[in-house]
Amino acid sequence: MALDHGRHEVAPAAVAPAARLSLEPLDIGFGARVRDVRIQDLVPAAAEALNDALYRHQLLIFEGQSLTAAEYTAFGNMFGPIERHLLEQFHLPQHPDIFVISNLKENGRAIGHTDGGFVWHTDMGFAERPAAATMLYTREAPSKGGDTIFASTYLSFEGLPDDERSYYAGLDVIHSFEELYRGRKAQPRDEERKRWPDVIHPLVRTHPVTGRNGFYLGFGDVRAVSGMEQDAGLELIKRLADLTTQPQRVYRHTWQVGDVVIWDNRGMLHAATPYDKDNDRRLVWRISVQGERPFQAMS
Ligand SMILES: [Fe+2]
Repeated sequence: MALDHGRHEVAPAAVAPAARLSLEPLDIGFGARVRDVRIQDLVPAAAEALNDALYRHQLLIFEGQSLTAAEYTAFGNMFGPIERHLLEQFHLPQHPDIFVISNLKENGRAIGHTDGGFVWHTDMGFAERPAAATMLYTREAPSKGGDTIFASTYLSFEGLPDDERSYYAGLDVIHSFEELYRGRKAQPRDEERKRWPDVIHPLVRTHPVTGRNGFYLGFGDVRAVSGMEQDAGLELIKRLADLTTQPQRVYRHTWQVGDVVIWDNRGMLHAATPYDKDNDRRLVWRISVQGERPFQAMS
Protein backbone atom coordinates (compact mmCIF):
# COMPACT_ATOMS: atom_id res chain seq x y z
CA MET A 1 0.00 0.00 0.00
CA ALA A 2 1.42 3.38 -0.98
CA LEU A 3 1.87 5.80 1.87
CA ASP A 4 0.13 9.08 1.35
CA HIS A 5 2.22 11.96 2.58
CA GLY A 6 0.59 15.19 3.63
CA ARG A 7 -2.42 15.98 5.75
CA HIS A 8 -5.51 14.01 4.81
CA GLU A 9 -8.57 12.38 6.25
CA VAL A 10 -9.54 8.74 6.56
CA ALA A 11 -13.27 8.28 6.91
CA PRO A 12 -15.04 5.27 5.48
CA ALA A 13 -18.52 6.14 4.21
CA ALA A 14 -20.26 4.30 7.03
CA VAL A 15 -18.57 6.36 9.72
CA ALA A 16 -20.35 9.32 11.27
CA PRO A 17 -18.76 12.74 10.61
CA ALA A 18 -17.74 12.90 14.28
CA ALA A 19 -15.44 9.93 13.64
CA ARG A 20 -13.34 11.64 10.96
CA LEU A 21 -9.68 11.54 11.81
CA SER A 22 -7.26 14.27 10.92
CA LEU A 23 -3.98 12.49 10.20
CA GLU A 24 -0.56 14.03 9.79
CA PRO A 25 1.94 11.40 8.56
CA LEU A 26 5.48 11.47 9.92
CA ASP A 27 8.14 12.04 7.26
CA ILE A 28 9.93 8.75 7.89
CA GLY A 29 7.74 6.42 5.83
CA PHE A 30 5.41 5.19 8.58
CA GLY A 31 3.49 6.62 11.54
CA ALA A 32 1.02 9.50 11.81
CA ARG A 33 -0.12 12.05 14.36
CA VAL A 34 -3.85 12.13 14.96
CA ARG A 35 -4.88 15.75 15.47
CA ASP A 36 -7.83 17.31 17.24
CA VAL A 37 -9.12 14.21 18.98
CA ARG A 38 -10.13 13.63 22.57
CA ILE A 39 -9.98 9.88 22.83
CA GLN A 40 -12.93 9.62 25.20
CA ASP A 41 -15.11 11.41 22.62
CA LEU A 42 -14.49 8.78 19.96
CA VAL A 43 -17.71 6.89 19.54
CA PRO A 44 -17.62 3.16 18.75
CA ALA A 45 -18.35 4.07 15.11
CA ALA A 46 -14.82 5.47 14.90
CA ALA A 47 -13.33 2.01 15.32
CA GLU A 48 -13.27 1.32 11.58
CA ALA A 49 -11.53 4.61 10.80
CA LEU A 50 -9.07 4.09 13.64
CA ASN A 51 -8.17 0.58 12.59
CA ASP A 52 -7.89 1.64 8.97
CA ALA A 53 -5.51 4.43 9.99
CA LEU A 54 -3.48 2.07 12.15
CA TYR A 55 -3.10 -0.50 9.38
CA ARG A 56 -2.22 2.18 6.85
CA HIS A 57 0.32 4.01 9.01
CA GLN A 58 1.41 1.25 11.46
CA LEU A 59 1.70 3.73 14.34
CA LEU A 60 -0.64 6.46 15.59
CA ILE A 61 0.25 9.25 18.00
CA PHE A 62 -2.36 11.11 20.09
CA GLU A 63 -1.19 14.02 22.21
CA GLY A 64 -2.63 15.85 25.20
CA GLN A 65 -4.95 13.09 26.37
CA SER A 66 -6.48 12.79 29.82
CA LEU A 67 -8.12 9.42 30.32
CA THR A 68 -9.57 7.39 33.14
CA ALA A 69 -8.74 3.69 33.27
CA ALA A 70 -12.23 2.88 32.00
CA GLU A 71 -11.92 5.30 29.07
CA TYR A 72 -8.52 3.94 28.12
CA THR A 73 -9.81 0.38 28.28
CA ALA A 74 -12.75 1.33 26.05
CA PHE A 75 -10.27 2.81 23.56
CA GLY A 76 -8.25 -0.41 23.64
CA ASN A 77 -11.35 -2.44 22.89
CA MET A 78 -11.91 -0.49 19.68
CA PHE A 79 -8.90 -2.34 18.23
CA GLY A 80 -9.95 -5.84 19.33
CA PRO A 81 -10.31 -8.00 22.43
CA ILE A 82 -7.73 -7.05 25.05
CA GLU A 83 -4.90 -9.47 25.77
CA ARG A 84 -4.07 -9.22 29.47
CA HIS A 85 -0.40 -9.22 30.39
CA LEU A 86 0.82 -12.44 31.95
CA LEU A 87 2.65 -10.67 34.81
CA GLU A 88 -0.50 -10.22 36.89
CA GLN A 89 1.39 -8.52 39.72
CA PHE A 90 1.56 -5.40 37.56
CA HIS A 91 -2.06 -5.21 36.46
CA LEU A 92 -3.67 -1.93 37.43
CA PRO A 93 -5.80 -2.70 40.52
CA GLN A 94 -9.48 -3.03 39.54
CA HIS A 95 -8.49 -2.69 35.86
CA PRO A 96 -6.61 -5.87 34.89
CA ASP A 97 -6.76 -5.04 31.18
CA ILE A 98 -4.19 -2.33 31.89
CA PHE A 99 -0.57 -3.28 32.58
CA VAL A 100 1.52 -0.79 34.54
CA ILE A 101 5.05 0.09 33.43
CA SER A 102 6.70 2.18 36.13
CA ASN A 103 9.62 2.59 38.51
CA LEU A 104 7.33 3.95 41.26
CA LYS A 105 6.62 2.25 44.55
CA GLU A 106 3.64 2.38 46.86
CA ASN A 107 4.09 1.22 50.45
CA GLY A 108 7.48 -0.16 49.49
CA ARG A 109 6.08 -2.31 46.69
CA ALA A 110 6.81 -1.81 42.98
CA ILE A 111 3.57 -0.85 41.23
CA GLY A 112 4.84 -1.61 37.74
CA HIS A 113 7.17 -3.50 35.47
CA THR A 114 10.60 -1.96 34.94
CA ASP A 115 12.90 -4.43 33.28
CA GLY A 116 11.56 -5.29 29.85
CA GLY A 117 11.73 -4.28 26.23
CA PHE A 118 15.20 -2.72 25.96
CA VAL A 119 16.12 -4.64 22.81
CA TRP A 120 14.42 -4.41 19.41
CA HIS A 121 11.41 -6.70 19.59
CA THR A 122 7.76 -7.26 18.78
CA ASP A 123 5.26 -7.91 21.56
CA MET A 124 4.41 -11.52 22.42
CA GLY A 125 6.27 -13.06 19.51
CA PHE A 126 6.55 -16.17 21.72
CA ALA A 127 2.78 -16.72 21.51
CA GLU A 128 0.98 -18.80 18.92
CA ARG A 129 -1.19 -15.70 18.39
CA PRO A 130 0.95 -12.68 19.24
CA ALA A 131 -0.58 -9.35 20.19
CA ALA A 132 -1.88 -7.53 17.11
CA ALA A 133 -1.36 -4.05 18.51
CA THR A 134 0.01 -2.44 21.64
CA MET A 135 -0.70 1.00 23.05
CA LEU A 136 1.05 3.05 25.71
CA TYR A 137 -0.43 5.97 27.62
CA THR A 138 2.06 8.10 29.52
CA ARG A 139 0.81 9.52 32.82
CA GLU A 140 4.23 10.50 34.20
CA ALA A 141 7.26 11.02 31.99
CA PRO A 142 10.91 11.16 33.10
CA SER A 143 12.60 14.52 32.58
CA LYS A 144 15.22 12.82 30.38
CA GLY A 145 15.31 9.49 28.53
CA GLY A 146 12.68 6.75 28.53
CA ASP A 147 11.98 7.27 24.80
CA THR A 148 10.45 4.47 22.75
CA ILE A 149 11.97 3.80 19.32
CA PHE A 150 10.18 2.24 16.35
CA ALA A 151 11.15 0.86 12.92
CA SER A 152 9.01 -0.64 10.16
CA THR A 153 9.95 -4.10 8.89
CA TYR A 154 7.88 -3.48 5.75
CA LEU A 155 10.26 -0.76 4.63
CA SER A 156 13.37 -2.93 5.08
CA PHE A 157 11.76 -5.95 3.40
CA GLU A 158 10.27 -4.03 0.49
CA GLY A 159 13.65 -2.45 -0.26
CA LEU A 160 15.26 -5.81 -1.07
CA PRO A 161 15.61 -7.38 -4.53
CA ASP A 162 13.11 -10.12 -5.50
CA ASP A 163 15.51 -13.03 -5.07
CA GLU A 164 16.41 -12.02 -1.52
CA ARG A 165 12.78 -11.56 -0.59
CA SER A 166 11.98 -15.02 -1.96
CA TYR A 167 14.84 -16.56 -0.01
CA TYR A 168 13.74 -15.01 3.28
CA ALA A 169 10.13 -15.98 2.60
CA GLY A 170 11.22 -19.64 2.79
CA LEU A 171 12.51 -19.38 6.36
CA ASP A 172 10.83 -19.94 9.71
CA VAL A 173 11.85 -18.70 13.14
CA ILE A 174 11.57 -20.47 16.50
CA HIS A 175 10.32 -18.14 19.25
CA SER A 176 10.69 -19.03 22.90
CA PHE A 177 8.98 -17.72 26.03
CA GLU A 178 11.66 -19.34 28.19
CA GLU A 179 14.34 -17.46 26.27
CA LEU A 180 12.56 -14.14 26.77
CA TYR A 181 12.44 -14.38 30.56
CA ARG A 182 15.89 -15.88 31.08
CA GLY A 183 17.78 -13.81 33.66
CA ARG A 184 15.04 -11.23 34.20
CA LYS A 185 14.11 -9.85 37.59
CA ALA A 186 10.32 -10.20 37.17
CA GLN A 187 9.56 -13.85 36.53
CA PRO A 188 6.28 -15.42 35.39
CA ARG A 189 4.54 -18.09 37.46
CA ASP A 190 5.20 -21.78 36.69
CA GLU A 191 1.80 -22.30 35.09
CA GLU A 192 2.60 -19.47 32.66
CA ARG A 193 5.79 -21.25 31.64
CA LYS A 194 3.80 -24.38 30.84
CA ARG A 195 1.28 -22.34 28.91
CA TRP A 196 3.81 -21.08 26.35
CA PRO A 197 5.77 -23.79 24.54
CA ASP A 198 8.15 -22.75 21.75
CA VAL A 199 6.38 -21.69 18.56
CA ILE A 200 7.41 -21.37 14.92
CA HIS A 201 6.46 -18.29 12.93
CA PRO A 202 7.39 -17.38 9.35
CA LEU A 203 10.32 -14.95 9.02
CA VAL A 204 8.21 -13.00 6.52
CA ARG A 205 4.71 -12.23 7.76
CA THR A 206 1.74 -11.08 5.71
CA HIS A 207 -0.61 -8.49 7.17
CA PRO A 208 -4.11 -9.99 7.29
CA VAL A 209 -5.83 -6.80 6.12
CA THR A 210 -3.37 -4.89 3.93
CA GLY A 211 -1.56 -7.93 2.52
CA ARG A 212 1.76 -6.18 3.08
CA ASN A 213 4.78 -8.40 3.74
CA GLY A 214 7.51 -7.65 6.23
CA PHE A 215 10.04 -9.31 8.50
CA TYR A 216 8.68 -10.78 11.69
CA LEU A 217 11.57 -11.07 14.09
CA GLY A 218 13.10 -9.51 17.17
CA PHE A 219 15.55 -10.08 19.96
CA GLY A 220 14.79 -11.63 23.30
CA ASP A 221 12.42 -14.42 22.31
CA VAL A 222 14.07 -15.72 19.13
CA ARG A 223 15.78 -19.02 19.83
CA ALA A 224 16.81 -20.06 16.30
CA VAL A 225 16.04 -20.06 12.60
CA SER A 226 14.66 -23.43 11.43
CA GLY A 227 17.18 -25.49 9.51
CA MET A 228 20.17 -23.26 10.38
CA GLU A 229 22.90 -23.61 12.98
CA GLN A 230 21.86 -21.56 15.96
CA ASP A 231 24.70 -19.03 15.69
CA ALA A 232 24.18 -18.56 11.96
CA GLY A 233 20.43 -18.13 12.45
CA LEU A 234 20.85 -15.55 15.19
CA GLU A 235 23.42 -13.75 13.07
CA LEU A 236 20.88 -13.57 10.23
CA ILE A 237 18.24 -12.17 12.60
CA LYS A 238 20.71 -9.56 13.78
CA ARG A 239 21.59 -8.57 10.21
CA LEU A 240 17.92 -8.13 9.27
CA ALA A 241 17.18 -6.22 12.47
CA ASP A 242 20.17 -3.94 11.78
CA LEU A 243 18.88 -3.37 8.24
CA THR A 244 15.45 -2.47 9.61
CA THR A 245 16.70 -0.18 12.36
CA GLN A 246 19.22 1.95 10.48
CA PRO A 247 19.14 5.38 12.17
CA GLN A 248 17.41 7.12 9.26
CA ARG A 249 14.58 4.57 9.46
CA VAL A 250 13.91 4.91 13.18
CA TYR A 251 11.18 7.04 14.74
CA ARG A 252 12.05 8.08 18.29
CA HIS A 253 9.11 9.04 20.46
CA THR A 254 10.01 11.30 23.38
CA TRP A 255 7.11 11.03 25.76
CA GLN A 256 5.10 13.91 27.11
CA VAL A 257 2.46 13.43 29.76
CA GLY A 258 -0.84 12.72 27.98
CA ASP A 259 0.65 10.98 24.94
CA VAL A 260 -1.03 7.82 23.69
CA VAL A 261 0.84 5.84 21.03
CA ILE A 262 -0.52 2.70 19.42
CA TRP A 263 1.33 0.50 16.96
CA ASP A 264 0.62 -2.55 14.83
CA ASN A 265 3.05 -5.26 15.99
CA ARG A 266 2.92 -7.23 12.76
CA GLY A 267 5.35 -5.11 10.75
CA MET A 268 7.06 -3.13 13.47
CA LEU A 269 10.04 -3.43 15.77
CA HIS A 270 10.20 -1.30 18.88
CA ALA A 271 12.43 -0.87 21.91
CA ALA A 272 12.45 0.96 25.21
CA THR A 273 15.39 3.20 26.10
CA PRO A 274 16.79 3.79 29.60
CA TYR A 275 16.15 6.62 32.01
CA ASP A 276 17.28 7.36 35.56
CA LYS A 277 15.11 4.88 37.43
CA ASP A 278 16.57 5.81 40.79
CA ASN A 279 15.84 9.52 40.63
CA ASP A 280 13.23 10.11 37.93
CA ARG A 281 9.59 9.04 37.62
CA ARG A 282 7.78 7.14 34.90
CA LEU A 283 4.22 5.85 34.86
CA VAL A 284 2.81 4.29 31.69
CA TRP A 285 -0.33 2.26 31.09
CA ARG A 286 -0.04 -0.43 28.46
CA ILE A 287 -2.81 -2.31 26.66
CA SER A 288 -2.32 -5.02 24.04
CA VAL A 289 -5.01 -6.49 21.82
CA GLN A 290 -5.27 -10.04 20.55
CA GLY A 291 -3.97 -11.00 17.15
CA GLU A 292 -4.07 -13.85 14.65
CA ARG A 293 -1.60 -16.63 14.09
CA PRO A 294 1.17 -15.20 11.87
CA PHE A 295 1.05 -16.46 8.30
CA GLN A 296 2.68 -15.77 5.01
CA ALA A 297 0.83 -15.42 1.73
CA MET A 298 3.43 -14.16 -0.72
CA SER A 299 2.55 -14.94 -4.29
FE1 LIG B 1 7.31 -4.16 23.81
